[in-house]
Amino acid sequence: MIEEIEPHPDLIEYFNITQNFTSNLTVDIFTNVGENYNILSDINKNIFLLKRLDELNLLKEENHIIDCGIGLGNTLFEIYLQSKEIDKKFYFKGVEKQKVYIRFILDNLSHLWKDALSLENNDIMNIDYSNFNIVYSYSPFNNHKQLKLMYQKIISEIKPESIIIEHANKGLGHFNLLEEFNDLEKINLDHLYIFKKL
Ligand SMILES: C[S@@+](CC[C@H](N)C(=O)[O-])C[C@H]1O[C@@H](n2cnc3c(N)ncnc32)[C@H](O)[C@@H]1O
Repeated sequence: MIEEIEPHPDLIEYFNITQNFTSNLTVDIFTNVGENYNILSDINKNIFLLKRLDELNLLKEENHIIDCGIGLGNTLFEIYLQSKEIDKKFYFKGVEKQKVYIRFILDNLSHLWKDALSLENNDIMNIDYSNFNIVYSYSPFNNHKQLKLMYQKIISEIKPESIIIEHANKGLGHFNLLEEFNDLEKINLDHLYIFKKL
């Protein structure tokens, strides 16, 4: 029997509010520099994500999670709601290049985040990842070269045992890119692969 899971009411509210987002951003602004605009992830793939990490002893007592290109924060918010069910500490950070996304979160979604989110308007390539043990992304770049440089930077900076979660391509990243790195262990979470730095 397939288990029916009712989404948390705050998640439904979050998604309803983000549907009102409008901006002057055009697709060219992103594609001209090899980037992707805010595309909603498939929330079904994230169900029980933190619970599964916990079962596999991949969480620490204190977890610092960063979303590289948070967009409007839908995915990170879902992960935040999951964290409330786990008896460990969690800290959430979102980096985003587009001010309008950050402004929208601050103006419309802060009441749902309840001070749990730290936001930085910056390029993901300027961030120091050394203090994050869970790095999440959903293909901020649309091409092999920039994505590879991003993963290279993250992998070189995070500490061993830290986790990389990519939403695209069952967690393998576009072009199966994450499989190219020797210092990562691929872990099967059933519907999604994640990677642990060795
Ligand atoms: C496909 S969306 C993913 C949104 C969110 N992470 C999620 O999974 O729901 C990619 C996001 O990355 C942002 N982005 C792309 N390139 C970036 C860069 N160089 N620095 C910071 N953010 C970037 C885009 O503006 C967009 O919001």
